[in-house]
Amino acid sequence: MIMKPSLLEIIDSYSPSDSLEEASTIPGPWYTDQNLFNLELQTVIANSWQLAGRVDQLREPGQYVTSDIAGEPIVVVRGTDGVLRGFFNACRHHAAAVMTEPEGQAAQLRCPYHGWTYSLAGELKGTPDFSGVCNFDRAANGLLPVQTGVWENWVFVRVGDSGGTSATNEPSGNNLEGFFGADLISQIRPLGLEKLHWLERRHYQFDCNWKVFVDNYLDGGYHVPYLHKGLDSVLDYSNYTIENGRRFCLQSSPIVSDGAEPETGAVRKGDRALYYWIYPNFMINLYDGVMDTNLVVPLSVDKTEVIFDFYFPDISESARERNRASIEVGQRIQDEDVSICKSVQRGLNSRAYNAGRLSVRREAGEHLFHRLLHADLKTGLEPNARSS
Ligand code: FES
Ligand SMILES: [Fe+2]
Repeated sequence: MIMKPSLLEIIDSYSPSDSLEEASTIPGPWYTDQNLFNLELQTVIANSWQLAGRVDQLREPGQYVTSDIAGEPIVVVRGTDGVLRGFFNACRHHAAAVMTEPEGQAAQLRCPYHGWTYSLAGELKGTPDFSGVCNFDRAANGLLPVQTGVWENWVFVRVGDSGGTSATNEPSGNNLEGFFGADLISQIRPLGLEKLHWLERRHYQFDCNWKVFVDNYLDGGYHVPYLHKGLDSVLDYSNYTIENGRRFCLQSSPIVSDGAEPETGAVRKGDRALYYWIYPNFMINLYDGVMDTNLVVPLSVDKTEVIFDFYFPDISESARERNRASIEVGQRIQDEDVSICKSVQRGLNSRAYNAGRLSVRREAGEHLFHRLLHADLKTGLEPNARSS
Protein backbone atom coordinates (compact mmCIF):
# COMPACT_ATOMS: atom_id res chain seq x y z
CA MET A 1 0.00 0.00 0.00
CA ILE A 2 1.27 3.47 -0.85
CA MET A 3 1.15 5.87 2.09
CA LYS A 4 -0.16 9.31 1.21
CA PRO A 5 2.19 12.06 2.33
CA SER A 6 0.98 14.27 5.18
CA LEU A 7 0.13 17.91 4.65
CA LEU A 8 3.34 18.94 6.41
CA GLU A 9 5.37 16.62 4.20
CA ILE A 10 3.78 18.10 1.09
CA ILE A 11 4.50 21.65 2.22
CA ASP A 12 8.05 20.80 3.24
CA SER A 13 8.72 19.16 -0.11
CA TYR A 14 9.14 22.67 -1.53
CA SER A 15 12.37 24.48 -0.80
CA PRO A 16 11.68 28.24 -0.55
CA SER A 17 15.25 29.32 0.11
CA ASP A 18 16.61 28.24 -3.27
CA SER A 19 17.61 31.06 -5.59
CA LEU A 20 15.80 31.32 -8.90
CA GLU A 21 18.77 29.63 -10.60
CA GLU A 22 18.44 26.68 -8.24
CA ALA A 23 14.71 26.64 -7.66
CA SER A 24 12.06 24.14 -8.61
CA THR A 25 8.35 24.79 -8.76
CA ILE A 26 6.02 23.75 -5.98
CA PRO A 27 5.50 20.00 -6.42
CA GLY A 28 2.49 18.28 -8.00
CA PRO A 29 0.62 17.48 -4.76
CA TRP A 30 0.34 21.21 -4.05
CA TYR A 31 -2.09 21.30 -6.96
CA THR A 32 -3.98 18.10 -6.23
CA ASP A 33 -4.18 17.56 -2.46
CA GLN A 34 -7.53 18.32 -0.81
CA ASN A 35 -6.04 19.17 2.59
CA LEU A 36 -3.62 21.61 1.04
CA PHE A 37 -6.49 23.23 -0.85
CA ASN A 38 -8.46 23.63 2.39
CA LEU A 39 -5.46 25.15 4.14
CA GLU A 40 -5.02 27.60 1.26
CA LEU A 41 -8.57 28.87 1.67
CA GLN A 42 -8.06 29.34 5.41
CA THR A 43 -4.69 31.06 5.09
CA VAL A 44 -3.71 32.35 1.63
CA ILE A 45 -7.20 33.45 0.59
CA ALA A 46 -8.69 34.30 4.00
CA ASN A 47 -5.71 36.37 5.16
CA SER A 48 -5.21 38.32 1.95
CA TRP A 49 -7.27 41.28 0.74
CA GLN A 50 -9.75 39.90 -1.76
CA LEU A 51 -11.74 41.76 -4.39
CA ALA A 52 -15.36 42.11 -3.23
CA GLY A 53 -16.72 44.73 -5.60
CA ARG A 54 -16.12 47.97 -7.45
CA VAL A 55 -16.39 51.46 -6.04
CA ASP A 56 -18.80 52.39 -8.87
CA GLN A 57 -21.26 49.78 -7.57
CA LEU A 58 -21.25 51.32 -4.11
CA ARG A 59 -21.55 55.07 -4.49
CA GLU A 60 -25.02 55.65 -2.99
CA PRO A 61 -26.27 54.83 0.51
CA GLY A 62 -27.91 51.40 0.45
CA GLN A 63 -25.96 50.13 -2.54
CA TYR A 64 -24.52 46.71 -1.83
CA VAL A 65 -22.59 43.85 -3.44
CA THR A 66 -22.39 40.24 -2.35
CA SER A 67 -19.61 37.76 -2.92
CA ASP A 68 -18.15 34.49 -1.74
CA ILE A 69 -14.63 34.78 -0.37
CA ALA A 70 -12.67 31.86 1.06
CA GLY A 71 -15.98 29.99 1.35
CA GLU A 72 -17.58 32.84 3.31
CA PRO A 73 -20.70 34.73 2.22
CA ILE A 74 -19.87 38.45 2.22
CA VAL A 75 -21.92 41.61 1.72
CA VAL A 76 -20.48 45.10 1.40
CA VAL A 77 -22.88 48.04 1.76
CA ARG A 78 -22.68 51.84 1.82
CA GLY A 79 -24.40 53.22 4.92
CA THR A 80 -26.70 56.24 5.21
CA ASP A 81 -23.70 57.95 6.83
CA GLY A 82 -21.70 57.33 3.63
CA VAL A 83 -19.40 54.77 5.29
CA LEU A 84 -18.63 51.56 3.42
CA ARG A 85 -18.98 48.46 5.60
CA GLY A 86 -18.45 44.76 4.97
CA PHE A 87 -20.27 41.97 6.80
CA PHE A 88 -20.51 38.24 6.83
CA ASN A 89 -23.72 37.75 4.87
CA ALA A 90 -25.08 35.16 7.31
CA CYS A 91 -28.26 35.93 9.23
CA ARG A 92 -27.84 35.75 13.00
CA HIS A 93 -31.12 33.82 13.25
CA HIS A 94 -30.58 30.61 11.26
CA ALA A 95 -27.68 31.57 8.99
CA ALA A 96 -29.43 32.23 5.67
CA ALA A 97 -27.82 34.72 3.31
CA VAL A 98 -29.45 38.06 4.12
CA MET A 99 -28.77 39.63 0.73
CA THR A 100 -29.13 37.25 -2.20
CA GLU A 101 -28.62 39.38 -5.31
CA PRO A 102 -25.09 39.99 -6.65
CA GLU A 103 -25.67 43.73 -6.28
CA GLY A 104 -28.46 46.21 -5.65
CA GLN A 105 -29.74 49.02 -3.48
CA ALA A 106 -31.83 48.63 -0.34
CA ALA A 107 -33.12 50.81 2.49
CA GLN A 108 -32.43 48.04 4.98
CA LEU A 109 -31.07 44.51 4.82
CA ARG A 110 -33.91 42.03 5.08
CA CYS A 111 -33.34 38.30 5.42
CA PRO A 112 -35.60 36.38 2.99
CA TYR A 113 -36.00 33.42 5.36
CA HIS A 114 -37.93 34.74 8.42
CA GLY A 115 -37.83 38.43 7.68
CA TRP A 116 -35.29 39.68 10.19
CA THR A 117 -34.04 43.11 9.24
CA TYR A 118 -30.72 44.85 9.76
CA SER A 119 -29.79 48.48 9.26
CA LEU A 120 -27.25 49.44 6.59
CA ALA A 121 -24.75 49.57 9.47
CA GLY A 122 -25.52 45.94 10.29
CA GLU A 123 -27.56 46.48 13.49
CA LEU A 124 -30.38 44.06 14.09
CA LYS A 125 -33.65 45.98 13.85
CA GLY A 126 -36.68 43.81 13.13
CA THR A 127 -37.37 40.33 14.53
CA PRO A 128 -40.94 39.25 13.65
CA ASP A 129 -42.74 36.93 16.11
CA PHE A 130 -39.88 36.97 18.55
CA SER A 131 -41.50 38.23 21.74
CA GLY A 132 -41.07 36.06 24.82
CA VAL A 133 -37.54 35.02 23.88
CA CYS A 134 -35.40 35.33 27.03
CA ASN A 135 -31.85 36.58 27.34
CA PHE A 136 -31.72 37.73 23.78
CA ASP A 137 -29.36 40.64 23.35
CA ARG A 138 -30.44 42.42 20.22
CA ALA A 139 -27.39 44.66 20.22
CA ALA A 140 -25.10 41.62 20.17
CA ASN A 141 -26.94 40.09 17.19
CA GLY A 142 -26.00 42.45 14.41
CA LEU A 143 -24.29 41.20 11.28
CA LEU A 144 -20.68 40.38 12.01
CA PRO A 145 -18.28 42.82 10.37
CA VAL A 146 -15.44 41.92 8.05
CA GLN A 147 -12.39 44.13 7.40
CA THR A 148 -13.15 46.28 4.37
CA GLY A 149 -11.05 48.77 2.43
CA VAL A 150 -10.89 50.67 -0.85
CA TRP A 151 -7.95 50.81 -3.22
CA GLU A 152 -8.17 52.48 -6.62
CA ASN A 153 -11.42 51.36 -8.34
CA TRP A 154 -12.07 48.47 -6.02
CA VAL A 155 -13.40 47.35 -2.67
CA PHE A 156 -11.51 44.59 -0.89
CA VAL A 157 -12.29 42.55 2.19
CA ARG A 158 -10.17 40.34 4.40
CA VAL A 159 -12.13 37.57 6.11
CA GLY A 160 -9.31 36.14 8.25
CA ASP A 161 -8.15 37.48 11.57
CA SER A 162 -4.53 36.36 11.68
CA GLY A 163 -1.54 38.44 10.70
CA GLY A 164 -0.72 36.90 7.33
CA THR A 165 2.78 36.11 6.12
CA SER A 166 4.68 36.44 9.36
CA ALA A 167 7.04 33.65 8.31
CA THR A 168 8.64 35.99 5.79
CA ASN A 169 8.99 38.78 8.39
CA GLU A 170 7.02 40.96 6.01
CA PRO A 171 4.94 43.84 7.28
CA SER A 172 1.62 42.55 8.46
CA GLY A 173 -1.16 42.10 5.95
CA ASN A 174 -3.70 43.32 8.50
CA ASN A 175 -4.33 46.62 6.82
CA LEU A 176 -4.96 47.04 3.15
CA GLU A 177 -2.08 49.42 2.41
CA GLY A 178 0.32 47.24 4.36
CA PHE A 179 -0.76 44.20 2.41
CA PHE A 180 -0.51 45.67 -1.08
CA GLY A 181 2.60 47.62 -0.12
CA ALA A 182 3.80 51.16 -0.76
CA ASP A 183 5.74 49.97 -3.83
CA LEU A 184 2.62 48.72 -5.62
CA ILE A 185 0.40 51.58 -4.50
CA SER A 186 2.85 54.21 -5.74
CA GLN A 187 3.23 52.44 -9.11
CA ILE A 188 -0.51 52.17 -9.75
CA ARG A 189 -1.47 55.67 -8.56
CA PRO A 190 -0.17 57.61 -11.62
CA LEU A 191 -1.84 55.25 -14.11
CA GLY A 192 -5.15 57.12 -13.84
CA LEU A 193 -7.36 54.07 -13.39
CA GLU A 194 -10.14 56.24 -11.95
CA LYS A 195 -10.73 57.57 -15.45
CA LEU A 196 -11.72 54.13 -16.72
CA HIS A 197 -15.29 52.90 -16.72
CA TRP A 198 -16.42 49.36 -16.12
CA LEU A 199 -18.31 47.88 -19.06
CA GLU A 200 -18.69 44.15 -18.68
CA ARG A 201 -17.94 41.09 -16.54
CA ARG A 202 -17.24 37.62 -17.95
CA HIS A 203 -16.79 34.34 -16.12
CA TYR A 204 -14.50 31.59 -17.35
CA GLN A 205 -14.23 28.06 -16.00
CA PHE A 206 -10.92 26.25 -15.93
CA ASP A 207 -10.45 22.55 -15.18
CA CYS A 208 -7.37 23.10 -13.08
CA ASN A 209 -6.20 24.19 -9.69
CA TRP A 210 -6.24 27.97 -9.27
CA LYS A 211 -2.44 28.05 -9.06
CA VAL A 212 -2.11 26.54 -12.55
CA PHE A 213 -3.88 29.60 -13.91
CA VAL A 214 -1.67 31.94 -11.85
CA ASP A 215 1.52 30.11 -12.90
CA ASN A 216 0.45 30.37 -16.52
CA TYR A 217 -0.08 34.10 -16.09
CA LEU A 218 3.30 34.51 -14.38
CA ASP A 219 5.53 32.72 -16.86
CA GLY A 220 6.97 35.96 -18.22
CA GLY A 221 5.45 35.55 -21.66
CA TYR A 222 7.20 32.18 -22.04
CA HIS A 223 4.08 30.53 -23.51
CA VAL A 224 2.95 33.45 -25.64
CA PRO A 225 4.84 32.62 -28.90
CA TYR A 226 3.60 29.03 -28.80
CA LEU A 227 0.05 29.38 -27.55
CA HIS A 228 -1.09 32.89 -28.42
CA LYS A 229 -0.04 33.67 -31.99
CA GLY A 230 -2.30 36.72 -32.23
CA LEU A 231 -1.02 38.24 -29.01
CA ASP A 232 2.53 37.32 -29.92
CA SER A 233 2.24 39.38 -33.09
CA VAL A 234 1.85 42.62 -31.07
CA LEU A 235 4.30 41.94 -28.21
CA ASP A 236 8.04 42.43 -28.43
CA TYR A 237 8.86 39.11 -26.81
CA SER A 238 12.61 39.61 -26.51
CA ASN A 239 12.15 42.91 -24.62
CA TYR A 240 9.58 41.54 -22.20
CA THR A 241 10.51 42.51 -18.62
CA ILE A 242 9.67 40.88 -15.30
CA GLU A 243 10.02 42.77 -12.01
CA ASN A 244 9.07 41.42 -8.63
CA GLY A 245 7.81 43.65 -5.83
CA ARG A 246 7.10 42.51 -2.31
CA ARG A 247 3.72 40.93 -3.04
CA PHE A 248 3.34 41.63 -6.72
CA CYS A 249 4.99 41.04 -10.06
CA LEU A 250 4.92 43.44 -12.99
CA GLN A 251 5.40 41.87 -16.39
CA SER A 252 5.67 44.34 -19.19
CA SER A 253 6.15 44.20 -22.91
CA PRO A 254 6.67 46.84 -25.57
CA ILE A 255 3.81 46.78 -28.08
CA VAL A 256 4.70 46.64 -31.76
CA SER A 257 2.43 47.36 -34.70
CA ASP A 258 4.61 46.07 -37.57
CA GLY A 259 3.40 42.62 -38.57
CA ALA A 260 0.56 42.64 -36.07
CA GLU A 261 -2.22 40.18 -36.67
CA PRO A 262 -5.05 42.56 -37.73
CA GLU A 263 -7.74 41.76 -35.11
CA THR A 264 -5.29 41.90 -32.23
CA GLY A 265 -3.38 44.87 -33.60
CA ALA A 266 -6.58 46.89 -33.87
CA VAL A 267 -7.29 46.69 -30.13
CA ARG A 268 -3.87 46.23 -28.54
CA LYS A 269 -2.09 49.51 -29.03
CA GLY A 270 0.11 51.91 -27.11
CA ASP A 271 3.74 51.74 -26.00
CA ARG A 272 3.66 48.96 -23.48
CA ALA A 273 1.39 46.33 -22.09
CA LEU A 274 1.49 46.19 -18.28
CA TYR A 275 0.49 43.01 -16.51
CA TYR A 276 0.30 43.35 -12.74
CA TRP A 277 -0.18 40.24 -10.67
CA ILE A 278 -1.04 40.93 -7.04
CA TYR A 279 -0.63 38.11 -4.57
CA PRO A 280 -2.40 35.82 -4.46
CA ASN A 281 -5.09 35.93 -7.15
CA PHE A 282 -5.75 39.35 -8.67
CA MET A 283 -4.39 40.71 -11.94
CA ILE A 284 -4.57 44.13 -13.58
CA ASN A 285 -3.87 44.21 -17.32
CA LEU A 286 -3.37 47.52 -19.07
CA TYR A 287 -2.84 48.42 -22.71
CA ASP A 288 -3.04 52.01 -23.86
CA GLY A 289 -5.83 53.16 -21.62
CA VAL A 290 -7.79 49.91 -21.74
CA MET A 291 -7.88 47.66 -18.70
CA ASP A 292 -9.11 44.30 -17.67
CA THR A 293 -8.81 42.66 -14.28
CA ASN A 294 -8.79 38.97 -13.45
CA LEU A 295 -9.90 37.49 -10.18
CA VAL A 296 -8.89 33.84 -9.86
CA VAL A 297 -11.41 32.06 -7.64
CA PRO A 298 -10.51 28.60 -6.32
CA LEU A 299 -13.69 26.49 -6.57
CA SER A 300 -12.20 23.11 -5.76
CA VAL A 301 -8.84 21.43 -5.99
CA ASP A 302 -9.18 21.14 -9.78
CA LYS A 303 -11.83 23.71 -10.68
CA THR A 304 -11.24 27.41 -10.99
CA GLU A 305 -13.37 30.34 -11.99
CA VAL A 306 -11.67 33.38 -13.45
CA ILE A 307 -13.74 36.54 -13.36
CA PHE A 308 -12.80 39.16 -15.94
CA ASP A 309 -13.90 42.77 -15.67
CA PHE A 310 -13.38 44.99 -18.71
CA TYR A 311 -12.86 48.74 -18.39
CA PHE A 312 -12.60 51.42 -21.06
CA PRO A 313 -12.03 55.17 -21.16
CA ASP A 314 -15.20 55.63 -23.21
CA ILE A 315 -18.22 53.34 -22.82
CA SER A 316 -20.62 55.44 -24.87
CA GLU A 317 -22.50 54.01 -27.83
CA SER A 318 -19.95 55.47 -30.25
CA ALA A 319 -17.16 53.37 -28.70
CA ARG A 320 -19.23 50.21 -28.61
CA GLU A 321 -17.74 48.43 -31.60
CA ARG A 322 -14.17 49.09 -30.57
CA ASN A 323 -14.79 47.99 -26.97
CA ARG A 324 -16.53 44.83 -28.13
CA ALA A 325 -13.64 43.95 -30.43
CA SER A 326 -11.22 44.40 -27.54
CA ILE A 327 -13.24 42.07 -25.29
CA GLU A 328 -13.39 39.47 -28.07
CA VAL A 329 -9.60 39.46 -28.42
CA GLY A 330 -9.37 38.94 -24.65
CA GLN A 331 -11.85 36.09 -24.92
CA ARG A 332 -9.81 34.39 -27.62
CA ILE A 333 -6.65 34.54 -25.51
CA GLN A 334 -8.51 32.94 -22.59
CA ASP A 335 -9.90 30.21 -24.81
CA GLU A 336 -6.36 29.41 -25.85
CA ASP A 337 -5.35 29.03 -22.19
CA VAL A 338 -8.28 26.79 -21.16
CA SER A 339 -7.02 23.59 -22.73
CA ILE A 340 -3.38 24.04 -21.71
CA CYS A 341 -4.41 24.57 -18.08
CA LYS A 342 -6.45 21.36 -18.17
CA SER A 343 -3.53 19.53 -19.71
CA VAL A 344 -1.16 20.80 -16.99
CA GLN A 345 -3.56 19.70 -14.25
CA ARG A 346 -3.58 16.16 -15.69
CA GLY A 347 0.19 16.13 -15.83
CA LEU A 348 0.50 17.34 -12.24
CA ASN A 349 -1.48 14.27 -11.21
CA SER A 350 0.83 11.95 -13.12
CA ARG A 351 3.15 9.62 -11.23
CA ALA A 352 5.77 10.65 -13.77
CA TYR A 353 5.84 14.28 -12.62
CA ASN A 354 6.86 15.86 -9.36
CA ALA A 355 8.24 19.38 -9.87
CA GLY A 356 9.87 21.34 -12.68
CA ARG A 357 12.64 23.90 -12.99
CA LEU A 358 12.13 27.60 -13.68
CA SER A 359 13.42 29.74 -16.52
CA VAL A 360 15.70 32.40 -15.02
CA ARG A 361 14.89 34.76 -17.91
CA ARG A 362 11.10 34.30 -17.71
CA GLU A 363 9.77 32.76 -14.54
CA ALA A 364 10.83 34.96 -11.61
CA GLY A 365 7.17 35.81 -10.94
CA GLU A 366 6.28 32.16 -10.39
CA HIS A 367 9.23 31.87 -8.03
CA LEU A 368 7.87 34.76 -5.95
CA PHE A 369 4.36 33.30 -5.99
CA HIS A 370 5.53 29.93 -4.77
CA ARG A 371 7.66 31.40 -1.98
CA LEU A 372 4.81 33.59 -0.72
CA LEU A 373 2.46 30.62 -0.76
CA HIS A 374 4.93 28.51 1.16
CA ALA A 375 5.32 31.20 3.82
CA ASP A 376 1.55 31.54 4.29
CA LEU A 377 0.93 27.81 4.41
CA LYS A 378 3.73 27.24 6.91
CA THR A 379 2.33 29.95 9.15
CA GLY A 380 -1.18 28.59 8.77
CA LEU A 381 -0.12 25.07 9.60
CA GLU A 382 1.68 25.97 12.82
CA PRO A 383 -1.29 26.11 15.21
CA ASN A 384 -2.75 22.93 13.66
CA ALA A 385 0.59 21.16 13.87
CA ARG A 386 0.93 22.09 17.54
CA SER A 387 -2.55 20.88 18.46
CA SER A 388 -2.29 17.52 16.67
S1 FES B 1 -32.43 32.94 8.95
FE1 FES B 1 -32.65 35.04 8.63
S2 FES B 1 -34.55 35.47 9.56
FE2 FES B 1 -34.31 33.36 9.95
FE1 LIG C 1 -1.96 32.65 -21.81
